[in-house]
Amino acid sequence: MTRPTPWLKSAVFALSLTPLAWLVWQALFGTLGVNPIETVNRFLGDWALRFLLIALAVTPLRKVTGWVPVARLRRMLGLFAFFYVCLHLSSYLGLDLFFDWQALAKDIVKRRYITLGMAAFVLLLPLAATSTDGMIRRLGGRRWRRLHLLVFPIAVLAVAHYWMMVKADIRQPMLYAVILAALLGFRVAAALAGRLRRPRSGGAAA
Ligand code: HEM
Repeated sequence: MTRPTPWLKSAVFALSLTPLAWLVWQALFGTLGVNPIETVNRFLGDWALRFLLIALAVTPLRKVTGWVPVARLRRMLGLFAFFYVCLHLSSYLGLDLFFDWQALAKDIVKRRYITLGMAAFVLLLPLAATSTDGMIRRLGGRRWRRLHLLVFPIAVLAVAHYWMMVKADIRQPMLYAVILAALLGFRVAAALAGRLRRPRSGGAAA
């Protein structure tokens, strides 16, 4: 696979840190609004979900445009999704619950949107843990790709988490749901087309 030019990887890396930089800037200058904790938590949740969807969009983008090097950015974008999810969870646990683990456990049991968010987080852990070259080698490409198909149910759980959290205006989570449905639809169509072309081969394409 053609490697992306180093500047592209560095540029995407730097760009991926700009939401965090913006948040720190707003915090330093006290412009996070009347409920800064909620602003921080929601902002980080938004970016976690955006990075998940951006990572999922890499393969369709490669297939549609034929721009092969973009595939090399997928792992980094997926890890940024995990990074923002960790910050999102930490902000909730630290700033909202003051590290009251019992309150967290209660929330997981009682509030359904938290249950879904936590399920998404737990499912992300094995993906993050197996994101190194060494783990890909150890698992073998096929098993690794199968495991990483988990990213689809994770994204569904994350969108459902957002959807169930909002009380009235569902436009934003609905937009994410439509984008996710389009990305899933693309993958299903690509998999079916692949099977029609190669009826006897059984490889999974992540
Ligand atoms: C893959 C994992 C997750 C993703 C992608 C995600 C994403 C989101 C998004 C997009 C929002 C709405 C932001 C907005 O209103 O603009 C949100 C809100 C929230 N999430 Fe998550 N989340 C995840 C996991 C979690 C976990 C593990 C927890 C806690 C255990 C959690 C707790 C919350 C809370 C407390 C809110 C805000 C509720 C409020 O302000 O009323 N999330 N999340």
